[in-house]
Amino acid sequence: MTMTEISSVRAIVWQSHCLKLLDQRRLPREQIWFECQTTTHVVDAIRSMVVRGAPAIGIAAAYGVVLAAYAHRDQPVAQAQILLVNVMDQLAEARPTAVNLMWALAQMREVLFSENILNASVDWICQLEQKAKAIHQADYDDNFRMAELGAQWLAAHVPQGKKALTHCNTGALATAGYGTALGVIRTAFQKNIISGVYVDETRPWLQGTRLTAWELQQEKIPFEVIVDSAAASILRQGQVSCVLVGADRIAKNGDVVNKIGTYALAIAARYHQIKLMVVAPTSTLDLTLNSGVEIPIETREGSEILAWRGEWLAPEYAQAYNPVFDMTPAELIDVIVTERGVIENPAAQGICF
Ligand code: MRU
Repeated sequence: MTMTEISSVRAIVWQSHCLKLLDQRRLPREQIWFECQTTTHVVDAIRSMVVRGAPAIGIAAAYGVVLAAYAHRDQPVAQAQILLVNVMDQLAEARPTAVNLMWALAQMREVLFSENILNASVDWICQLEQKAKAIHQADYDDNFRMAELGAQWLAAHVPQGKKALTHCNTGALATAGYGTALGVIRTAFQKNIISGVYVDETRPWLQGTRLTAWELQQEKIPFEVIVDSAAASILRQGQVSCVLVGADRIAKNGDVVNKIGTYALAIAARYHQIKLMVVAPTSTLDLTLNSGVEIPIETREGSEILAWRGEWLAPEYAQAYNPVFDMTPAELIDVIVTERGVIENPAAQGICF
């Protein structure tokens, strides 16, 4: 499958030694491309959420390494290796929770230190560029595999023709294209497994209101945006058959860290006996961690809560606490869908294929 066949949105473009990112801070009002000519630009883009969503962050970081390689093209390879390790450390620190970032950097590091890289006849920069492109393409392909697997699982396990409820943005904007949970939603809608979507607004950054709504509108999938706190009472009304979310990191025991609000949603879904599906590529797995409590949770500036687009909403000097992810224990998750297969009831056996 090529990158242009299906998904209408492609938010990450590598073109003529430049990384172009569709600026997610400006959507849906403006479609502006943020151009990264240097690794510093990529670090800034990840930190400031020009690019966001676990798989998309990983892909951007891989291209960030390629930009550094071009910047040091005149150095002997052994010298460039030292400089690039330093660059990778800067990229890794840009955001702490999504493990796809560290995963992609580990892939790039493997190429950088592969046996043949010091061989004069090998174009080491070309090898790094090929690896970044491969990570990008593999994520795109994996999304379609997960969409099929997830839709098949829903067809067999939930009442047909009801609505799905989703949180945050897990679509083409958060990945190489098509999406994880939103990819399953797209495919499930095409197959009439679901009839529409409730979209959590996703406070405070409003990934749902701004980004998921924008993607669903382009696909002509019926949706309604709801405030996050409406989700539990909507689940009680009986029109929702499944809750679908993505993940930023999944521990060995199946605990999932995802956008803040996912845990509350999981509790509400279980109480109302509605299935909770987590959709994430294997690049989101962190099998070095035994449980989700070990996963670092990013906290961001209080101004994300207390102000909106520069307008201060709270009383002067108000303080805010802004953890942007939370941990959902495996026991609240019915199924985790990866490109390698489906893990039902992850609490029983943890992550194994
Ligand atoms: O802070 P964000 O917008 O980067 O958080 C994104 C999420 O939490 C997504 O649910 C997750 O990364 C999966 S995206 C396919």
